Amino acid sequence: MRVTEEELKQLIINKLHKAGLQESHAETAADVLVFADQRGIHSHGAMRVEYYAERIAKGGINTNPDFRFEKTGPCSAVFHADGGNGHTAAKLAMDEAIKMAKENGVAIVGVRDMSHSGAISYFTEQATQVDLIGLTVCQSDPMAVPFGGAEPYYGTNPIAFAAPSSEDGKSMTLDMATTVQAWGKILHARSKHESIPDTWAVNGNGEPTTDPFDVKALLPISGPKGYGLMMMVDVLSGVLLGLPFGNKVSSMYDNLAEYRKLGLLHIVINPEFFGGISGFKKDISQSMDDLNNIKPATGFSKVLYPGQNNDIVIEEYKNNGIEIVDDVLEYLRSDVIHNNQYDNKDPFAK
Ligand code: NAI
Repeated sequence: MRVTEEELKQLIINKLHKAGLQESHAETAADVLVFADQRGIHSHGAMRVEYYAERIAKGGINTNPDFRFEKTGPCSAVFHADGGNGHTAAKLAMDEAIKMAKENGVAIVGVRDMSHSGAISYFTEQATQVDLIGLTVCQSDPMAVPFGGAEPYYGTNPIAFAAPSSEDGKSMTLDMATTVQAWGKILHARSKHESIPDTWAVNGNGEPTTDPFDVKALLPISGPKGYGLMMMVDVLSGVLLGLPFGNKVSSMYDNLAEYRKLGLLHIVINPEFFGGISGFKKDISQSMDDLNNIKPATGFSKVLYPGQNNDIVIEEYKNNGIEIVDDVLEYLRSDVIHNNQYDNKDPFAK
């Protein structure tokens, strides 16, 4: 079903507020979730609301956190999220990183003890909207095998990077998990009793599997290289902040009554302190054009710049409304807060 941006946002705010989240935090969460749906990143959009509502209702997100911003140097800081809503904490931490990078050229701000933060290019876009480069990485619960391993160690540990262009608020944006596919895709295949490609996941012996019911862990992108990127993300957003790391990162589903202690790191760079912002933005626009003009390979109609696939979806949804799965929209429009379907119910990696 199609829905307007305004209605979708309001439905999410209402639901999360009703579950117990304070209004301003519900507004940020809705903003981040709608940002994802608007770009076609539905795995991190409105379909997550019921999970968040259940966690909030059961006490697993601090609805009255003592957010504290601790400046540790001219370009460094730690944002203490106190078990609070991850979208809000990460957004506020990026606001602070932006101020520091405007003044000092660079900023590195870690966020500690937060809950899930959604599609993290939302935060890098905060930076590009004000002419800065944004890089955000964060931890997620262990569900990927290390290269050569038969049991999970790292999470899907995503990386977002965005550089502003001179073209009307547009940026080149990479926003990706470091696993080949998200766990949601395995669940989707299970629900449809379809097989999966043997490049996505492994069974309990670490062997590639095409049976979604046999999956015990996900595979990193590009073997040891993706595994190395997962390690980098875990070091920067976990170990660096003194947080649980590797397979000790708290699970999304194990205990919905317990605050999560996830870490995230924003790195913001101000091009004005390097080659100057106007030349930088002009060159990024040039790269976007160059890429679009590269001869397409057989089977492709055009080369897109990183993130352009999402920009195309935004344009389509702007004209026709955002496409949301019927069940999700029905839940959002109902009076139900949650259906008690997530707590300790996810069989992943068990
Ligand atoms: P994806 O595989 O859909 O896209 C990855 C990247 O490839 C994107 O930057 C996209 O713009 C680019 N891309 C796709 N098709 C393209 C094309 N034809 N030409 C040029 N570029 C193209 O993303 P993935 O890995 O499924 O991640 C989805 C979301 O999940 C992300 O927003 C990520 O932040 C989020 N995530 C969040 C986590 C958290 O704990 N907060 C954990 C894991 C993922």
